[in-house]
Amino acid sequence: MTDQTKKNKPYSRSRYNPSQSAKLSYQKVDYQKVDYSPSRYESADYLSGATMYEELIGKINRKDAQVGVIGLGYVGLPLAVEMASSGYRVVGVDLDQSVVDRINRGQSHIGDISTERLQPLVEQGLLSATTEYQGLSEVDCVSICVPTPLTKTKDPNISYITEAIDRLVGLIKAGQLIVLESTTYPGTTEELVAARLHAERGLKVGENVFVAFSPERVDPGNTQWTTKTTPKILGGVTPTCTLVAQALYAAVVDSVHVVGSAREAETVKLLENTFRAVNIALVNEFLLMCDRLDIDIWHVIEAASTKPFGFMPFFPGPGIGGHCIPLDPLYLSWRAKTVDFYSRFIELATDINGNMPRFVIAKLANLLNEREKPLKGSRVMILGMAYKKNVDDLRESPGLEIYRLLRAKGAWVEFNDPHATQFTSMLDNIIESSPIDDGQLGTFDVVVLVTDHDVFDYEKIAQEAGSILDCRAAFERRQIRADHIVRL
Ligand SMILES: NC(=O)c1ccc[n+]([C@@H]2O[C@H](COP(=O)([O-])OP(=O)(O)OC[C@H]3O[C@@H](n4cnc5c(N)ncnc54)[C@H](O)[C@@H]3O)[C@@H](O)[C@H]2O)c1
Repeated sequence: MTDQTKKNKPYSRSRYNPSQSAKLSYQKVDYQKVDYSPSRYESADYLSGATMYEELIGKINRKDAQVGVIGLGYVGLPLAVEMASSGYRVVGVDLDQSVVDRINRGQSHIGDISTERLQPLVEQGLLSATTEYQGLSEVDCVSICVPTPLTKTKDPNISYITEAIDRLVGLIKAGQLIVLESTTYPGTTEELVAARLHAERGLKVGENVFVAFSPERVDPGNTQWTTKTTPKILGGVTPTCTLVAQALYAAVVDSVHVVGSAREAETVKLLENTFRAVNIALVNEFLLMCDRLDIDIWHVIEAASTKPFGFMPFFPGPGIGGHCIPLDPLYLSWRAKTVDFYSRFIELATDINGNMPRFVIAKLANLLNEREKPLKGSRVMILGMAYKKNVDDLRESPGLEIYRLLRAKGAWVEFNDPHATQFTSMLDNIIESSPIDDGQLGTFDVVVLVTDHDVFDYEKIAQEAGSILDCRAAFERRQIRADHIVRL
């Protein structure tokens, strides 16, 4: 196979301009017809005349390749564990010393990875962690899994990616593969990774260095669909980049779905999460509408779900959270604005979902009002502070906003969460989870169930609490019905 980049030269010093990246075109390769089977790359014949990408694929297939993972959080640690479990020697880099120390002791800090799974990999020397980027000097492949949050004005904050590349770029050698996994706007892999390797190191992407994007689709807490079992989307900056990255990921996860470019792969992830954000917003708007019309939205959704085709249930709630759904669509709408395109669905969904905590406050105020109590001075217990059930992740959690709004109204607020046991308030105070196992719920004017963790004892809560606002229909789902339990 000839390397298409030799013809296109998208990263030649004189021609590359990030703002023109949309115009780059790649010749399509029929991946089904390319022979990159392990036997081909292990033969002595091939080694004598191998090009750099073939050499790297050979190393990957023989499991001689060393792999680096930058950022060992919810995404990076499971990926590093899968790579090590597949037989690669993995070096993980994280700037957080406590994360590195724990991993090197074989202790997992991520719910989806058990210590029993991590420990043997560390003991066998297949997985090690460091805060030093120098630890990546010997690796052949690097996957970057650093955070991509928003700025205060809700624009993409790509500083973590930039910082990782700043530290990595001087260490990159010819013949390496770099895969960006952090969710980001289309064009990032070309503009922030590939272009810099060329501009700062004179490397030719697709010829002597390989760059791809592969979004992580992990769903924390989901035991069926994991890093290994969820199909992996992959798109290289050039077709050769795709082939090299495909060789690595196909050896680690159950299936890889290749797309035509890194920008397509970046957009796949944004479509998936925008789809969720928009559908949740639609059903949240239905909730607000049905509330005014005095119609039970939960019964409506349950009935609509009996349709065997053309309907997919989404459920209303107190708002959306986590590091993906509330943020990722805004990466796309930001990028779209740079070409004068305004994504109305994304803006609308962000508005509706972002205002759900205020609706929760209004419902709580109504409940208290019926008992002639103001929010000010009332005692409110929030059950579940993590952004979704059975996880400890507090990022962007609507519970935090509900807590903040209640405090701003002068309520006395406590929370209980068996998974996320503390959080830092806006004033930088550490707020600890309050106990509820000794009849304490009876001392609160109202209890609001924000996150329906399975470990909560719903029968006991229903018995002890005087008034409950259930934002997840969790009591109804368990057939627990009473006059003092009100759904959102
Ligand atoms: N959490 C999810 O459910 C999920 C799912 C799919 C995709 N993603 C995406 O994956 C990316 C990572 O998210 P996450 O949830 O794993 O984040 P995380 O905060 O759990 O982990 C990121 C880790 O990177 C480390 N880090 C930050 N800057 C670094 C640097 N310059 N060098 C080395 N380490 C650095 C942090 O210390 C942290 O341990 C994000 O782009 C996110 O959108 C997340």
